Amino acid sequence: MCEDAKRTTPPNQVPVVRKATVSDLENTVSVHVASFSGFFLTSLGRKFLFEVYRGFLESDSGIYLISALDGSQIGFVVGTMDPGGHFKQLLYRRWYRFILAGLPALLRHPIMVGRKFLGAVLYRGEKPAGIENSVLLSSLAVSPATNGKGVGRALVESFCKEAESRGASSVYLLTDRDDNEPVNQFYGKCGFRLESSFGRQSRRIMNRYVRIIAPRNNGHTTTGTSS
Ligand SMILES: CC(C)(COP(=O)(O)OP(=O)(O)OC[C@H]1O[C@@H](n2cnc3c(N)ncnc32)[C@H](O)[C@@H]1OP(=O)(O)O)[C@@H](O)C(=O)NCCC(=O)NCCS
Repeated sequence: MCEDAKRTTPPNQVPVVRKATVSDLENTVSVHVASFSGFFLTSLGRKFLFEVYRGFLESDSGIYLISALDGSQIGFVVGTMDPGGHFKQLLYRRWYRFILAGLPALLRHPIMVGRKFLGAVLYRGEKPAGIENSVLLSSLAVSPATNGKGVGRALVESFCKEAESRGASSVYLLTDRDDNEPVNQFYGKCGFRLESSFGRQSRRIMNRYVRIIAPRNNGHTTTGTSS
């Protein structure tokens, strides 16, 4: 009878957001590759991406959550409580792993990839000036098959809650201003407000968004979206 009950129990159809573990890394890389096709980081290959996400997992300042449906990863979000320190520490401690993982791409396009590597070495998270205690949401993706079902929003909400529980007062992120309307709209709907736009040396114009998660005035807390 127990066996019958097991067979007829429907699978869990509600995505669950939870903290990632080391066994989630390969699947995060797969979601990344499917969601960011054509992006430079993706062109560096799975091993390189694995090291990037492992950096968030192993860092004390990292936040790394996944959304799972029936045990399969369908989305993830990563970020850091210490944007300036995270990228510096990552390269300081693991530069050899990144070089090894990115070697095939480096040999194929030495100038372009070399220039980007240098940019990565100098990258400090582009934190907004004048906003203290802000957490960087660095990467977010939902498996294309499950887009538009609230998974991205749930990941953002969980990320903000985790950041707040660790003492942050705001979350910020960067995304392309141009040819990227859906993502800009998505973040607007998730309670982020455009803080500034600026050009990078690569000539990409970036939009920087901020969401206040814990302004404590008069004893009550306000968040950018309802959850
Ligand atoms: C952007 C992304 C994370 C959105 O995830 P998602 O699960 O599809 O989004 P949700 O279903 O949670 O949508 C939340 C809100 O944003 C809106 N939204 C989502 N995608 C949108 C789009 N393409 N255009 C306009 N609005 C969009 C939804 O309509 C919803 O608003 P509503 O609640 O008022 O209906 C997902 O499309 C993705 O992974 N894209 C590729 C990777 C990427 O660009 N990541 C972001 C940059 S780091």
